[in-house]
Amino acid sequence: MSASLLAASGEERRATEGGPPEQVALRAIEAGDAPSCAELSRRVGWPHRREDWEFVIGLGRGVVGIRDGRIVASALCWPYGESHATLGLIIVAPEEQGAGIGKRLMQALLAQAGERSLMLNATTAGAPLYERCGFRPLHDVRQQHGHVLAVAAPVLGAGERLRPGGAADLPVIEQLDRAASGLERGPTLAALLRCADCVVLERNGRPVGFSMLRAFGRGDVVGPVVAESESDARALIACWLHGREGRFMRIDLQVGSPLGAWLERCGLAPAGDVTTMVRGDKPEAAGPARLHALINQALG
Ligand SMILES: CC(C)(COP(=O)(O)OP(=O)(O)OC[C@H]1O[C@@H](n2cnc3c(N)ncnc32)[C@H](O)[C@@H]1OP(=O)(O)O)[C@@H](O)C(=O)NCCC(=O)NCCS
Repeated sequence: MSASLLAASGEERRATEGGPPEQVALRAIEAGDAPSCAELSRRVGWPHRREDWEFVIGLGRGVVGIRDGRIVASALCWPYGESHATLGLIIVAPEEQGAGIGKRLMQALLAQAGERSLMLNATTAGAPLYERCGFRPLHDVRQQHGHVLAVAAPVLGAGERLRPGGAADLPVIEQLDRAASGLERGPTLAALLRCADCVVLERNGRPVGFSMLRAFGRGDVVGPVVAESESDARALIACWLHGREGRFMRIDLQVGSPLGAWLERCGLAPAGDVTTMVRGDKPEAAGPARLHALINQALG
């Protein structure tokens, strides 16, 4: 990133009562920033642990804002091939908000992303800023979470089986994910396979979907879930909920998904919506597999 993006400009300095103007400097995010970033996200009510930050910092690039040696802002970008990238974990500490730091974070990310089309999931607080940066809304995504109730084991049809997925399945998982998302997410999927549990749904010996479960935030997250039909997706989610009564789990689904009502009955209640926004070209998903649940809101 160019030095001009990292240095605070005079007009963006923020005066404090009775003191000299202070400035927040931006610098590239580093793996060692994870504990401070976890504290920053906790302050805006997000559940990300140090490990969750380490995972996403390792997969992407981004900036942090520093005041008096402390991290007071963050913003990350994850390139998916040469055509697209997703942005996320855009946070300004509560006492620093409204002073133009969010805008500077976005300028830094836009410079890092180059010509790529960009996706993000916007909170109500972030949407006005992203609209000003050229993003337009596509659809809404709902977080559902809670303590899992008793959930029946998945019911499979003739010729169907669920089997564990592993590193050797990366090519097929990449292919299914590309068909579902329209994105080249190979390195992210490979990293997920190293830390998540995975199941692959086969029909007559052919892989037709997969899902993953991993530790995240207050418990576990189910995602991504890639499947050709709602009933396949349901089996790929039920296999993680079954036998895990009482565990705290989270899933992020498109608003309007018929899976939402079923998940509520499983104990995962609606916990807030965000808006998926795009700047540039929306990725074209060839199908027939579809993305029924996100990896998480940052990674898409
Ligand atoms: C969203 C967030 C990053 C914005 O950071 P910020 O430093 O407060 O934003 P800025 O001061 O740079 O404001 C950027 C622009 O958005 C506008 N804006 C900021 N908050 C706004 C709001 N709530 N409603 C309308 N406009 C708003 C500002 O007026 C400014 O407009 P301008 O470009 O015309 O000058 C910050 O509020 C935040 O961290 N919120 C909590 C975490 C969060 O929700 N992050 C977004 C995740 S997608």
